[in-house]
Amino acid sequence: MQSLSGKTAIVTGAGRGIGQAIARAYAAAGASVCCAARSSAEIDATAAAIRQAGGQAFACCADVTVEADVNAMVQQTVERYGGIDILVANAGVDLDQRNVQDSDIGLWRATIETNLTGAYLCARAAIPHLRRRGAGKIIMIGSGLGHRGRPGSAAYACSKAGLWMLTRVLAQELADDNISVNELIPGPVQTAASSVDPQHSVAAQYGSEWRKQPDDVVPLALFLATQPDRGPTAQSYSLMRRDG
Ligand SMILES: NC(=O)c1ccc[n+]([C@@H]2O[C@H](COP(=O)([O-])OP(=O)(O)OC[C@H]3O[C@@H](n4cnc5c(N)ncnc54)[C@H](OP(=O)(O)O)[C@@H]3O)[C@@H](O)[C@H]2O)c1
Repeated sequence: MQSLSGKTAIVTGAGRGIGQAIARAYAAAGASVCCAARSSAEIDATAAAIRQAGGQAFACCADVTVEADVNAMVQQTVERYGGIDILVANAGVDLDQRNVQDSDIGLWRATIETNLTGAYLCARAAIPHLRRRGAGKIIMIGSGLGHRGRPGSAAYACSKAGLWMLTRVLAQELADDNISVNELIPGPVQTAASSVDPQHSVAAQYGSEWRKQPDDVVPLALFLATQPDRGPTAQSYSLMRRDG
């Protein structure tokens, strides 16, 4: 028996990087997976690779900042698979690495909208369906920067700090429904997002920290998805090896 057999998961930002690795792993563990992102080519490829490997998945074009997209994503998942058990709020961006004085208000807003409001919209739309199942898991992909911050990270760090607070508030609101809400902090992972700016490359930012590939995040993502119905909630789980 596979550990996620009979479960349905939505993974936002499943087109590449960490989200793609989690979507593939959940499908390999038996879940039916909605692979969501804004652009179709990458999520089509993720869903096709899952089906080719014998799993169940579909690609869903959805911008997590657009309420109608998020509601349609949830609706399509329920229509296809009969419900939702797991939401992974993974879609995220880091758009401006300048200090506050030189930063751009448009990029600030877009970062908060994607990383925080997007996760809020996804959770809000999924909650009625998780409740209907009698249990569920919400996994927020956070960041160590949301706990500690760093110069040049204001929008990103504030969005992730908000996400950590959203995690704790939701966990309290949903505890009696057996819906656990936890944060997963990946630490530095080699992805498109972490490679764009050499000045802010993983090496420059993290020195000797454990530098991961997306698949290294999978064991913790599986652990959180497979905890008992009345399992840990309101917790932050980090894959980092040192603080700072
Ligand atoms: N990589 C790291 O070192 C690291 C460290 C700590 C935390 N994280 C967090 O881990 C998560 C994944 O990061 P990653 O490095 O795997 O990033 P990535 O490779 O850039 O992938 C991001 C995914 O999110 C999607 N996305 C972006 N904006 C979206 C939106 N508005 N609506 C829907 N989907 C959207 C992207 O697809 P489209 O562009 O097609 O929409 C893509 O599929 C993020 O929340 C990030 O903050 C990453």
